[in-house]
Amino acid sequence: MPYLMGLDISTTGAKALIIDETGAVIAVANAPQPISQPKPLWSEQNPSDWWDGISASIRQALAESGLSGDDISAIGLTGQMHGLVLLDANGEVLRPSILWNDQRTQAQCDAMTDLIGADRLLELTGNPAVTGFTAPKILWVRDHEPAVYAKAAQVLLPKDYIRYKLTDTYATDLAGAAGTSLLNVAERAWSAEVLEALEIPAEWMPAVHEGTQITSTISAAGAAATGLKTGTPVVGGGGDQAAGAIGMGCVTPDIIGVTVGTSGVVFAPLGSYAYEPEGRLHAFCHAVPETWHFMGVMLSAAGSLQWYKDSFAPALDFEGLLAEAANVPAGSEGLFFLPYLTGERTPHPDPLARGAFIGMTTRHSRGHLTRAVLEGVAFGLKDSFTLIDQAGLPAQFEVRISGGGAKSPIWQRIIADVLAAPLVNINTTEGGAFGAAILASVAAGVFDDASSACEAMIQTGETVAVGADADAYAERYEIYQSLYPTLKDTFARL
Ligand code: XUL
Repeated sequence: MPYLMGLDISTTGAKALIIDETGAVIAVANAPQPISQPKPLWSEQNPSDWWDGISASIRQALAESGLSGDDISAIGLTGQMHGLVLLDANGEVLRPSILWNDQRTQAQCDAMTDLIGADRLLELTGNPAVTGFTAPKILWVRDHEPAVYAKAAQVLLPKDYIRYKLTDTYATDLAGAAGTSLLNVAERAWSAEVLEALEIPAEWMPAVHEGTQITSTISAAGAAATGLKTGTPVVGGGGDQAAGAIGMGCVTPDIIGVTVGTSGVVFAPLGSYAYEPEGRLHAFCHAVPETWHFMGVMLSAAGSLQWYKDSFAPALDFEGLLAEAANVPAGSEGLFFLPYLTGERTPHPDPLARGAFIGMTTRHSRGHLTRAVLEGVAFGLKDSFTLIDQAGLPAQFEVRISGGGAKSPIWQRIIADVLAAPLVNINTTEGGAFGAAILASVAAGVFDDASSACEAMIQTGETVAVGADADAYAERYEIYQSLYPTLKDTFARL
């Protein structure tokens, strides 16, 4: 029987997953990853930590499954998007990776927009210049660390550093490449126009491939470090959101994905390239060949709840905390939470946006605050959902939900009511790693394409219907929408 491996270099862990051709999970191993936030707005990790973590996870997954490297037919890679890994001409890492949630590059975003023009940048790359994306980080290194920049010879995304260590090849996938601001997203190729305008040498960029295409094979050194077999094919895979969407079966425009992880994402596949005229939604290549997607990203979704619990209720477990919220009426009796704890992207691309509780009175207890956090994140998801709706949802569509936050029944209930859309659960919880393994299954010849692979390997489960609170939430959403514009200037002053 063919076995497939998915590798996920996420912000929190380096995960290796093995599935069989039915989609059954045979083994999973995860090595937690440290993160460094040495200055306000900064967020970094060391690529060597990812490599140590993923090689240990691959070995552990193989050992747990009782399989050997010979049994793995193909490998798919996924991971955190947008991070900058800069290598010298010898393939050595030049500085810590600057991550997706790093917010230091507003000046470089402004410079990019001036150089290329806001409209042209949007048309070419599907997005405005975003502080978390890769291109402004390259410019930041040029502006602030010229000695490092002078040695640069190769740009990689986090998961593609692992591809390089495993296969000795510089390559990436199109979904990940679309998050750099350097890709011509319609043409699915690096944009010579953007690279030239930013004076970034085209030879620094890795080769781009579709998600199901084989980029390279496991090298002797990669095999020695991991227990995998030399020559095993590695496919393009996808950025974590595209691969996660595949893991939910979001491969056609009628299946919308909502993911409540550290970040919160609404993902809508597209059959042809389109971009939102004001650039409030991301428009990227999908990991399904020759397709695209819209995506709204809020930076702190389950991340908001985690921060809230760690800061104010460290002694309670999530179950206890959420039980208190369940006793509070919908709307938290006038209390709102703005989830912009690490700045925001959709629909307010603003690194200086801040979190807030608004409307507190002596009547409010911890349960109210907890519920307000759950509702604030749901309203943030509604912002993205509304933009996708305005851009044109098909007449019939299904919303599927996944991510750590989706495990909570009360949060699912609130999200279904706030979105006014039923939420369909799926049988898998392994997210991007599962999607990457599905992409590998196509390259291994187990399935003809990503759609048939998803159909065979993903089953839908319980549906959470829209409940009685939907109308009340529709009213409250109007108030929520008014809060950021009111506070924007104050946030900037803070
Ligand atoms: C997507 C994004 C996050 C990161 C980290 O645009 O920034 O999903 O990839 O998970």
